Amino acid sequence: MASTGAGIVGLGIWGETHLMAYAEHPHVDLVKVCDLNKSRARKMAKEYGAKSWCTDYRELVTDPEIDIVSIVTPDFAHTDIAVAAAKNKKHILVEKPLATTVADCKKIISAAKRNKVKLMCDFHNHWNPCMHRVKEAVDAGEMGTLQFMSLRLNDTIEVPRDWLAWSGKSSVLWFLASHSVDLVRWIFKDEVDRVYTVARSRVLKKLGKNTPDFYMSTLEMKKGAVVAIENGWIMSDKMPIVCAFQMELIGDKGTILSDVVSHEAVQKFTDKEVSLPDLFGRPEIQGKTYGFAVESIRHFIDCVRLNRKPHVTGEDGLAATKVILAMMESAKTGKPVKVR
Ligand SMILES: NC(=O)c1ccc[n+]([C@@H]2O[C@H](COP(=O)([O-])OP(=O)(O)OC[C@H]3O[C@@H](n4cnc5c(N)ncnc54)[C@H](O)[C@@H]3O)[C@@H](O)[C@H]2O)c1
Repeated sequence: MASTGAGIVGLGIWGETHLMAYAEHPHVDLVKVCDLNKSRARKMAKEYGAKSWCTDYRELVTDPEIDIVSIVTPDFAHTDIAVAAAKNKKHILVEKPLATTVADCKKIISAAKRNKVKLMCDFHNHWNPCMHRVKEAVDAGEMGTLQFMSLRLNDTIEVPRDWLAWSGKSSVLWFLASHSVDLVRWIFKDEVDRVYTVARSRVLKKLGKNTPDFYMSTLEMKKGAVVAIENGWIMSDKMPIVCAFQMELIGDKGTILSDVVSHEAVQKFTDKEVSLPDLFGRPEIQGKTYGFAVESIRHFIDCVRLNRKPHVTGEDGLAATKVILAMMESAKTGKPVKVR
């Protein structure tokens, strides 16, 4: 089977995950990479062996050698690129959130359908071994009927303060709660009916970042379960981890706990730092990248090469966006909001 041509738009922190996944794949040619930042585009192309680079995504999406386009631009800058790629018959892997309005999500989904290309929103926790174990136990009926869940997904303050130049134009809801909501829908096999969300803006505001510090949300599921979601962007930067990710799920027959990051499997203490090395997300082992962050991308490559349906769809992206928008409305009005 011939090689599959790949292109990536957006070569920032997460763009590097896509670079690794494509560059290491034995049946993928990394044809072109694109970033508005010229020196970053040139540097990443050289580092990961892309054949060429550009600063205008229109040049990338019209390249005849490209079959797959990954879109890894900021949360609010996915739609135009995704639609243009679909129009040019490229299969599209869009980072989460799919888009930040319902209309934009629908534009992407219909462009993919009209042009008969595959679309996946990169909710990679479906490949996270911890979450997969939870899902297996639930699907096997071991937990009985699910009653409630508590899900924490928080970043240290470094992420909005130092890493993301655009954090003030997005929020921890788009950046992290999109994963939380997707996990809830996937594990419960249910939709969110109503949300009640409270947010505060104190710490980041003082740093000139116009985005809330955290959101605490209660989600009522259609079948009656209740989920508490915590998403914050202000954990101390002295933490030995960048992201805290914990779940407690309680059914009428069982309870399951998961700690994806701050478990004690490996703890490192040096003169410089105390750290918990990444074991599940994107660890490098014997010169190869492993982990759920690259497995989702490898899955999409398989779907394109073997003509399979992606495990996560554009509709999953749309559903998560609808819940996030309801959370935003609830935080603003102080009232519970039905997901529409
Ligand atoms: N799956 C995950 O867990 C995960 C993790 C981190 C980020 N993300 C998502 O990936 C996306 C990017 O996040 P990031 O952390 O890499 O941000 P980043 O700021 O590090 O990188 C974004 C890059 O996109 C470039 N860019 C912006 N607009 C562009 C355009 N029109 N054309 C070409 N390049 C453009 C910027 O110059 C920048 O280099 C976001 O949607 C984010 O939510 C997903």
